[in-house]
Amino acid sequence: MALDTHEWWQKGIIYQVYPRSFSDADGDGVGDLNGVRSKLDYVEWLGVDAVWLSPIYPSPMADFGYDISDYCGIHPLFGTLEDFDALLSDVHALGMHLVLDLVPNHSSDEHAWFIESRQSRTNPKRDWYIWQDPGPNGGPPNNWLSNFGGSAWQFDEATGQYYYHAFLAKQPDLNWRNREVRAAMYDAMRFWLDRGVDGFRVDVIWHMVKDEEFRDNPPNPDFQGHNPYHEFLETHTTDQPEVHDVISEMRAVLDEYPARMMVGEIYLPVERLVTYYGEGGEGVHMPFNFQLVTLPWNAAAISKAVNHYEAALPSYGWPNWVLGNHDQSRIASRVGDAQARVAAVLLLTLRGTPTMYFGDEIGMHDGQVPPDRVRDPAELNVPGKGLGRDPQRTPMHWNGEPKAGFTTGDPWLPIAADHDVRNVELERDDATSILTLYRELIALRRREPALSIGAYQHVSTNGGVFAFQRSEEGRRFLIVLNFGPDATTFQCDHIPCRGRIAVDTHLDRKGNRVEGTISLRGDEAVVVELG
Ligand code: GLC
Repeated sequence: MALDTHEWWQKGIIYQVYPRSFSDADGDGVGDLNGVRSKLDYVEWLGVDAVWLSPIYPSPMADFGYDISDYCGIHPLFGTLEDFDALLSDVHALGMHLVLDLVPNHSSDEHAWFIESRQSRTNPKRDWYIWQDPGPNGGPPNNWLSNFGGSAWQFDEATGQYYYHAFLAKQPDLNWRNREVRAAMYDAMRFWLDRGVDGFRVDVIWHMVKDEEFRDNPPNPDFQGHNPYHEFLETHTTDQPEVHDVISEMRAVLDEYPARMMVGEIYLPVERLVTYYGEGGEGVHMPFNFQLVTLPWNAAAISKAVNHYEAALPSYGWPNWVLGNHDQSRIASRVGDAQARVAAVLLLTLRGTPTMYFGDEIGMHDGQVPPDRVRDPAELNVPGKGLGRDPQRTPMHWNGEPKAGFTTGDPWLPIAADHDVRNVELERDDATSILTLYRELIALRRREPALSIGAYQHVSTNGGVFAFQRSEEGRRFLIVLNFGPDATTFQCDHIPCRGRIAVDTHLDRKGNRVEGTISLRGDEAVVVELG
């Protein structure tokens, strides 16, 4: 297996940009396309291969762009189609790829399709959304809940029926059992593919088809009372067998074009997750694997998950790993600064395409968002439970100035207080910064097929230490990660172990020889080139 037999999205690293928060070129406090464009030199310098942009389409912004009112346009906040084309062409000129967010499960209630659909029960677009008569007691048709609190059914006075919304009432779910809906969305995909985009990250893809009989969801026996959404299992609202049909049709649209890819957002246990590759590879190219986000951070849990995932993948299923995104508390806040470095080593040495979330490479934490600055409906609708996602969406820290180099205006979310000590300007020339660590890891992964496409072999899990090997055509790397704060010694009983440290979390052991045993400080990880 050589590098040239692999696609860009297999060899490469994906970098997620949340456009509202990356860089604001026009000073209105919200990031935009020209802002992203102005920072492409940074993205290229970092060494990643693809940029995934969270939604940039016209939207009332009830869910910050995940409520789309036109699938084939650009929100004026972000710029114009011309700005988009210019960005895409710059990305390509730098040898990188651009992946757009596609949100096919639901539109905005301000989309022309929904405006028509709600007009009358006989409107030709009525069946484009999911309408049901009231339940026997006059209330919602069943017990399905919205991810953002309350019933998932919204009553519409004008026509006396309810429509289904898995998220906000302003995000009605499209009816993917309807052929016209499918054709319309495939055309929207072609609109962007024709312009040259390299693929899509598909929002909540496992939600796209719901039970045809609208049966109640069963109670969740493990419900802890924390997030009210989890009172019921998602038995009849997500992961329905028919969704694979839809996905294979979407895949066929992508396959009309060379070298495009789609990665699906799916929060499911591994056995279910891997079914999204399709029975013979006709599913998504990659179902996002969120285990590094959802599992407890310790050597036992993580190594078990890696081995389990490796074993569960179908022969044609390319793996991937994610450390963070715009919906999850940032890795540095979840595991602390020291382990965030260990996490970087893990993400960039595991087998499978890594997806990074902007700002994690400079060690950003969740920002502080005082109650009067809260914007996320997840927090506004279900307050005080820590469900809000504003903290992980605060603006990027480019420098230590009051507005962090993000904007000249008033930032839409507060700039985190620690931007004066964690920012690109400060870290880029600091030989021991987490940014330098990320760059070294990325450069090594790019250089060494053993790390990007090579085989994975578990070496050992012992106490707080997880060790594995990556190899390709005679080149071998041993990765040893200490998930705990205490110093320890790794014994090379399992494989012959002699080599040189290629990268280490503390950035002070590069080139050092190791043989037989490797001493590790607390929170230290090393990548050893064996041989
Ligand atoms: C996905 C997005 C999230 C959004 C939701 C509804 O989970 O990542 O940000 O709120 O879908 O579109």
